[in-house]
Amino acid sequence: MTMATTRLDVATPEAMAELGAQLAGLLRAGDLVLLSGPLGAGKTTLVRGMGAAMGVRGAVTSPTYVIARVHPSLVGGPALVHVDAYRLHGLAELDDLDLDADLDSCVTVVEWGTGVAEALAETRLEVRITRSGNGETRGVELITHGDAWADRADALGAAAGVAT
Ligand SMILES: Nc1ncnc2c1ncn2[C@@H]1O[C@H](COP(=O)(O)OP(=O)(O)OP(=O)(O)O)[C@@H](O)[C@H]1O
Ligand SMILES: [Mg+2]
Repeated sequence: MTMATTRLDVATPEAMAELGAQLAGLLRAGDLVLLSGPLGAGKTTLVRGMGAAMGVRGAVTSPTYVIARVHPSLVGGPALVHVDAYRLHGLAELDDLDLDADLDSCVTVVEWGTGVAEALAETRLEVRITRSGNGETRGVELITHGDAWADRADALGAAAGVAT
């Protein structure tokens, strides 16, 4: 299994959204993206940037009572499935949610709490966001797992560069 790690500092919420937009350019139907980081780390901010760049319908928000939301594409691309996994016990439950969408044809992005991202799908992009101190700057690690990401490793580095 291939694995590549890219690290970057993200200074503002706008830059976090831009990182999401850059990552969106690399995403394909069937991809799984896992976001981890503490409360207020910027996970939803990143997904918002992804959704905007993917041209999907509906605002990407922080759903309090909704575990998952499907945002259909308005531009003929894959839908964005945004999952808040605080109350989800493992990815198996994702299948049980009975989303009105076939995950193979969607890009699925899951927000996890810190340290919850274990026992996951073999192929995925992991995004780990950390906060240091009281400032706005976030540390972001992009970690790819699986051969499906092998041909996108260079593009991932470039995407991270644009958002820095
Ligand atoms: N560099 C930064 N990147 C992202 N967000 C930032 C940054 N600096 C400040 N912020 C602010 O931090 C907050 C991040 O909120 P957001 O909802 O994206 O976090 P979250 O990780 O999804 O939180 P939760 O765990 O509650 O889902 C926003 O208010 C945003 O404006
Ligand atoms: Mg959130």
